[in-house]
Amino acid sequence: MNTIKIGLFGFGTVGQGIYHVLKQAKNAHATIKRICVRDISKPRATDLPPSLLTDRQEDILDDPEINLIVEVIDNADAAYGIVTTALRRGIDVVSGNKAMLARHLPELIDMQRRYNAALLYDASSCGSIPVIRNLEEYYDNDLLLEVKGILNGSSNYILSCVFDHGETYGQALDHARRLGFAESDPTFDIGGWDALFKLIIITVHALGEYVAPERIFTYGIQNIHEADIRYAREKRMKIKLVAQVAKVSESAFTMFVMPEFVGPEKYIYSVDDEYNGVVIRGECYDRQFMFGKGAGSLPTASSILSDIMARRHNYRYEYKKMAYLDRPAYTTDVTLRIYARYGTTDIPSLLPFKKITEMYMSEGSNYVIGDILLSDLIAHRRLLDASDIFIANLSRFFSDRDISH
Ligand code: HSE
Repeated sequence: MNTIKIGLFGFGTVGQGIYHVLKQAKNAHATIKRICVRDISKPRATDLPPSLLTDRQEDILDDPEINLIVEVIDNADAAYGIVTTALRRGIDVVSGNKAMLARHLPELIDMQRRYNAALLYDASSCGSIPVIRNLEEYYDNDLLLEVKGILNGSSNYILSCVFDHGETYGQALDHARRLGFAESDPTFDIGGWDALFKLIIITVHALGEYVAPERIFTYGIQNIHEADIRYAREKRMKIKLVAQVAKVSESAFTMFVMPEFVGPEKYIYSVDDEYNGVVIRGECYDRQFMFGKGAGSLPTASSILSDIMARRHNYRYEYKKMAYLDRPAYTTDVTLRIYARYGTTDIPSLLPFKKITEMYMSEGSNYVIGDILLSDLIAHRRLLDASDIFIANLSRFFSDRDISH
């Protein structure tokens, strides 16, 4: 591909960042030919020539000069329509739409092969941090044991505001929205869904396995309470929303998203505000840590630019690990040690703990610490939505192949 002519879908926070970043990128040899937006009459702050804008998808998809679609719209269903139409026509796509990718990756991988078109999406996971391409290329061996980290900037920003600056949860959420980190529906951020979608994409490139969202335990920070923060502070820990995929044996892996108590000895303890941090653990090399801005206009746009440049050099994901014969299988048959704070709901008798190690009861709130199967947490998932309940993981290793920390 010599000169890249881009059809851009979406001109929100990320779309405007791409417009800005591309104007400065001298070596990209890429220009935006058309931008498709939902509301063409909306006032826009940038110096955008009005002729670039259209509200008709066909103006981009039917334009024979456009050889790359960049899709950064909010709506996952509409994004799916745009991306599949483009791939079917053999047009390459760069996408940042984690919700769409996490739901449709197997089909999209198949379409890339069938129609000989490439789909790149490093921007979908962890903003400016190059997680996907690194997992795909560098970690293409059997040594990988775990990928774990803070994948959602908004919830991390909220937790930082609450822990470090004494703000209320509501004030912090409001700031995250105004700063452009949060999704248009912030329940995706605080409910753990955004981190889940990113984890699913990461797992495809880490282990060559796709697991559908509804099979994975996901629990967010919306029920966090002063009592939980007090408990964490007393133990000199922070609460972070952590997504993780980990091998639990030679033949099995597990994955889930939930709040976790994190001590100062962990890399992710120092990952604050809208930053993301990803720890990659493997045999032979122990741990590596990637840290950077995971949300926001320009950090995400920088990752989109990297994918645009990668297409200039004909880069595509090969999904090599998905073809390996010896791949681990997904399991939820693993035991976690959790903290569960509750009010009137009788958590100790409703949740099937294998063992309870600590219990505290008071007039204001109660908590229990105990061991429970991940499959039992999934089975009781709806119960955990009750507003008087908050659970968090007390981290432990699943695999005994590395016992160094
Ligand atoms: N809402 C997302 C976040 C944006 O807060 O991380 C980046 O994916």
